[in-house]
Amino acid sequence: MLVPTHVPVLLQETVEALAVQAGGRYVDCTLGGGGHAAAILDQSSPGGQLLGIDADPEAIKIAKARLDAYSGSILLVNENFVNLQAICLKHDFSPVHGILFDLGLSSLQLNSNGRGFSFQHDAPLDMRFSPSQEVTAADIINTSSEAKLARLIKIYGEEGYSHRIARHIVQERPIRTTLQLAQTIEQAVGTRRGRIHPATRTFQALRIAVNHELEHLEAALKQAINLLGFDGRLVVISYHSLEDRIVKQFMHQESRDCICPPGTPACICQHTASLQLINKKAITPSPAEVQLNPRSRSAKLRTAKRIDTQDNLAWLKNAFPPPMVKAGVMGSNLLKNRRAF
Ligand SMILES: C[S@@+](CC[C@H](N)C(=O)[O-])C[C@H]1O[C@@H](n2cnc3c(N)ncnc32)[C@H](O)[C@@H]1O
Repeated sequence: MLVPTHVPVLLQETVEALAVQAGGRYVDCTLGGGGHAAAILDQSSPGGQLLGIDADPEAIKIAKARLDAYSGSILLVNENFVNLQAICLKHDFSPVHGILFDLGLSSLQLNSNGRGFSFQHDAPLDMRFSPSQEVTAADIINTSSEAKLARLIKIYGEEGYSHRIARHIVQERPIRTTLQLAQTIEQAVGTRRGRIHPATRTFQALRIAVNHELEHLEAALKQAINLLGFDGRLVVISYHSLEDRIVKQFMHQESRDCICPPGTPACICQHTASLQLINKKAITPSPAEVQLNPRSRSAKLRTAKRIDTQDNLAWLKNAFPPPMVKAGVMGSNLLKNRRAF
């Protein structure tokens, strides 16, 4: 059972970055415990509306209870944000004033005994955000070749000892639980290296691989632009350099009129900027926030706003097939209240 405590990171900064306004319409792509969502709903009152998405049905349940007071203004969808565009189309929820991604996993998931995200608890090596996903961390650990494991741990975990760890994993297989894996890694590289546990990077790598986190982020960012109305804000909080690199490159690319390779004599890409960067450097938590909530220490918040004036709604409707949203939706009278933007 999840214990409902997750402290939202960069809360005030997020509300400011989204430029939340009364009557505004917002999408929270990573609802989690509903902390950011509650602040957005408070600030957008009266008349604000929020579509909240989370792949984890447990998160949806917890957020639904937390956001009970706003039940007339919310729509919560248990889905993966890789389907962002289809979800918004299905619920006629675009254009919007702001879209938030607060990436990764919540403390609720990390501290949950049975989910396998943490080596602080012994649990089956699962790590799926949603039980509807087929592949678990145990599947990857026990069926991948040594070379594939080493590559995955190196790339997604940015782990310098990836080959040594992969070799030990293959020797020790089958590995079924978090503690078994953490002990195998300790045997491979020793017990403590600096401030982080030696298994930290491998656990991060597995979680990213199980949930296709980087691919889904890239796909969802592209969709987000089309859902924003003019001046609408895109706000992303990331927690490690792989995520932040994707967000930074995406926002930089979409804020340029030409993305031809350097040295191209004349523009052939015909790319036009659709975003404007709001803060050129990422916003990071204050020392006081890090002290109160150490989990926030690696957070980076980036913001851009939509600047092109194309009729994105018309474009969207022509460009996409019928929605493919399938999972549980907890509704409200939101759509009756829908207003033009
Ligand atoms: C850091 S938490 C969000 C916390 C939230 N902002 C709050 O204030 O409580 C990230 C959440 O995003 C969800 N998540 C991660 N990747 C997802 C994806 N591709 N689609 C949908 N939800 C996702 C996780 O299940 C988790 O609940």
